[in-house]
Amino acid sequence: MAIQEKIKILILDDEKQFTEELSGFFQGSDYESFEANTAEEGRKILQDHEIDLLILDVRLPGVNGLDILKEVKIQYPAMEVIIISAHGDMDTVIKAMRFGAFDYLRKPFRYIDIQIAIERTQKYLQLHRKLKLIEERNSLISKTLEEKIDRQFIGLSPQILEVFEQAMTAANYPDANVLITGESGTGKENIARIIHYSSLRKDSIFCAVNSSAITETLLESEFFGHKKGSFTGAIADKMGFFEVCNKGTLFLDEIADMPLALQAKILRATEEKVITRVGDTHTIRTDFRVISATNHDIKKRVEKRKFRLDLLHRLNTLHIHIPALRERPEDIKPLLAHFVELYSTRFNKPNIHVSKEVYDLLQQYDFPGNVRELRNMTERAIILCKGSLLGTKDFPVKPNENVPVKEQSASINIKGNEIDLIRKALKSSGYNQQKAADTLGIHRDALSRKMKKYDIRIDKKES
Ligand SMILES: Nc1ncnc2c1ncn2[C@@H]1O[C@H](COP(=O)(O)OP(=O)(O)OP(=O)(O)O)[C@@H](O)[C@H]1O
Ligand SMILES: [Mg+2]
Repeated sequence: MAIQEKIKILILDDEKQFTEELSGFFQGSDYESFEANTAEEGRKILQDHEIDLLILDVRLPGVNGLDILKEVKIQYPAMEVIIISAHGDMDTVIKAMRFGAFDYLRKPFRYIDIQIAIERTQKYLQLHRKLKLIEERNSLISKTLEEKIDRQFIGLSPQILEVFEQAMTAANYPDANVLITGESGTGKENIARIIHYSSLRKDSIFCAVNSSAITETLLESEFFGHKKGSFTGAIADKMGFFEVCNKGTLFLDEIADMPLALQAKILRATEEKVITRVGDTHTIRTDFRVISATNHDIKKRVEKRKFRLDLLHRLNTLHIHIPALRERPEDIKPLLAHFVELYSTRFNKPNIHVSKEVYDLLQQYDFPGNVRELRNMTERAIILCKGSLLGTKDFPVKPNENVPVKEQSASINIKGNEIDLIRKALKSSGYNQQKAADTLGIHRDALSRKMKKYDIRIDKKES
């Protein structure tokens, strides 16, 4: 229903002269009015028209007006009712308000009184309609998102099908916490969203939080919320992530990087499902599921006392590991086809095909940036291509970067290769980390993490 549509009013009163007069008063205004002099006539009009406001005389002959009020509030909960009562009938008015009447008028009344009462109701109705519209729009958005997400899960390998199956199990247990591990770009957040949107929590929020991106001083208030004035800058009461995702899913990305001090608090909140805002004393109940993700070896973090073992146990009720793309090369072809279609549509370059050599080439490549890298290289290839056939030239996978995976003892070479790739990318970008990350098709944060992990420093001697 459009917000600016005319408000439909039904006047139900046994006095014909009264309904006619009032109806006449509404003519030419922003309201469309209907008249009924018996309950029967009233019911018929309510059935046939989407009435927004009922002006109801509670003293109809032969029927109890309050019963009609109760009946219509059940049948048409969105409709508002203004009742008309006789002088000195306060008891009926009080009952009517209790049964859900929005306002009342006492006979005899002046037109200005009814005008004011209607305007008041109208404001409320308009707010109500706006809310309804927003809700409809939101559910549409989440529906499109859901559809999109469903289609975005691509893969045929037994490993990725297993991951999908585990995700569906997680979706069926909406209170179980899930830990997703896997290298950067393997699709951890993707899977987390799939779990959320396939679960009973799908109509509530999916709140993705990367705690390593929040300054340490703000962490507690971001998670728990705060009370106005609890610290400089707390200018109003604020909800934290735990409260925001009530009934939904809290996605904690890069969980291994969470500061220790916060870990204890997160553990308590996750166990008790009760939180207290910073600077406040009263507790708030909130119902959320935690899905967390990391691309670090979290057990090593526990050994180094950088991560609490009790929190790890709390978070990994279900554990899903997404294998690196190089460990499931069957997925490269369907993923490439998917991204080609996605970007050729987006950039309006229809009928783009990929040569067989490209598939062969990519099967040999080790994809340190995993699916994200494949996606980015496909996007770039489509933007830059002139014709309709993508060949090996369009994919910046240099021969010396190809790893004949099968011939090497995997982990040592993958590591060596990754270091080599990062060094090359850094060198060719003039040691600009953003450019190097773009070349590698990975996020800049992922590049920094990898540089830290392999102790690669930007040192001019490298050049
Ligand atoms: N199976 C898949 N099907 C389709 N798209 C995928 C799949 N896996 C990953 N992607 C896409 O690859 C990109 C990277 O995925 P995502 O952001 O979920 O990775 P991540 O593991 O969270 O990475 P990081 O550790 O760097 O945060 C996204 O665009 C995602 O949609
Ligand atoms: Mg991620």
